[in-house]
Amino acid sequence: MVSVGIISDIHSNFFALEIVLDFLTDKIDSLICAGDFVGYGFQPTECLESLIDYSLPTYYCLGNHDIGVRYEYCKLSEKNSCDKDLQFFTLDEVRPAARQMFENNAEVISEEHYNFLEQLPVFNQFQIGQKLIHLTHGTPSKIEKDKVTRYLPAPPIQPLRQTIDRAQQYSGTKNVDIIIVGHTHQRFFINRDRIQGWSHLGDRYNNIMVKYPKEFNFPRDKIILNPGAIGQPRDGDPGASFVILDLDANNVRFYSLEYSRKELYKIAKRKCPSSIQDSTFWEIRF
Ligand SMILES: [Fe+2]
Repeated sequence: MVSVGIISDIHSNFFALEIVLDFLTDKIDSLICAGDFVGYGFQPTECLESLIDYSLPTYYCLGNHDIGVRYEYCKLSEKNSCDKDLQFFTLDEVRPAARQMFENNAEVISEEHYNFLEQLPVFNQFQIGQKLIHLTHGTPSKIEKDKVTRYLPAPPIQPLRQTIDRAQQYSGTKNVDIIIVGHTHQRFFINRDRIQGWSHLGDRYNNIMVKYPKEFNFPRDKIILNPGAIGQPRDGDPGASFVILDLDANNVRFYSLEYSRKELYKIAKRKCPSSIQDSTFWEIRF
């Protein structure tokens, strides 16, 4: 059995990440993370340490908040190469509380952590078992900036065909079996040309609670998925969201785990009060 853990958008939330990594112990053979390791939250060092030293093979890519934090670290340590990151974003586009957390995270990370963020690729394409996997934070694209910052929304926000076309057209090769993105903080799963009867965002608006783990089989092997966010969900379910993919059984399970959001809230109130006032910042029911 080849089982792969898929996580994304940790956002320096070790309360959530620790519980998920504990859960994944002995259940997976490798780990994928679709970027945004840091930013927003208050425990960047704990998160980075646990993933730099992860005991299994790992496949990572770069998120826009990883760029924001490494840009601020670069400035703080007076390196010469900082401005290269401004090809991906301008600081004016970033909300004040998010910008503040770029700076707060940059103040506490080490040179080793910075080096880790520095070497993350804007996209990553690799083989696990028989499957060729394309991993990028934003959307598969020919444009460097889009790979990291452009959203790949799922239905009902964007029509299904458009989601598939955009993902497949630019994933580099027609032979890609699995496309994985993050960035929206909203789960979705598409098997070839249909979404598997489930849109968490739609369920949220209809006030229907989804039960986890939510499982799909995909006898047709082309899939596109977003595992949702570990540290800052934005699809109505406050739990830490991730996926276990069984590549032998062609089976995918979406999980949601409870964690101590009270502790996170206490720290947020103390260290970044503006993030509490910004209702879209921590879309978490404490
Ligand atoms: Fe994110």
